[in-house]
Amino acid sequence: MKTVEEYIRSIPDFPEPGIVFRDVTSLLQDADGLKLAIDEMIKALENVDFDIVAGTESRGFIFGVPVAYAMHKPFIPVRKAGKLPCETVSQSYDLEYGSATIEIHKDSIKPGQKVVLIDDLIATGGTIEAAAKLVEQLGGEVVKMLFLLELKGLNGREKLKDYDVESIVSYE
Ligand code: PRP
Ligand code: HPA
Repeated sequence: MKTVEEYIRSIPDFPEPGIVFRDVTSLLQDADGLKLAIDEMIKALENVDFDIVAGTESRGFIFGVPVAYAMHKPFIPVRKAGKLPCETVSQSYDLEYGSATIEIHKDSIKPGQKVVLIDDLIATGGTIEAAAKLVEQLGGEVVKMLFLLELKGLNGREKLKDYDVESIVSYE
């Protein structure tokens, strides 16, 4: 049987010269690869006590929803600013150039609820740190951050020392 890593193709010089892009589409377009990835993420949550899965737009939705569905938990989309129709809380974070803002609906998390954050990948950790702050603004507790891939060289974990961070596959 193939491993998760074997389903992920690496594309040199994308989106810029010198960057090796780890591409999850090659895993998604293989039924066995998709099943293996979701099964491994579910396994990582087997002993975690939680109420809600939240996933960050857009690739976090791809992995977050099937995990939430399989574990019979609700799913909260963490969206890019301006997309959600009801009252929101917002959090800005730095990108390599400039900044971005993400939001969740105010009524999506009640104080004390335990939240698992899911994304396809952690690079600098900026996106997931901002997502955690959104959960915390509403009084929720981030009990785990779960990724399919981790790019270790970008030191995302350093920002996230206060959290339980797990990835299925990591790249140096
Ligand atoms: C990618 C990825 C993570 C984030 C990781 O999303 O899916 O959400 O970047 O990077 P970080 O750890 O440095 O914050 P992107 O913002 O490219 O959006 P997309 O999912 O819509 O492609
Ligand atoms: N793959 C996918 N998304 C990314 C990467 C990568 O290597 N680096 C930053 N975002």
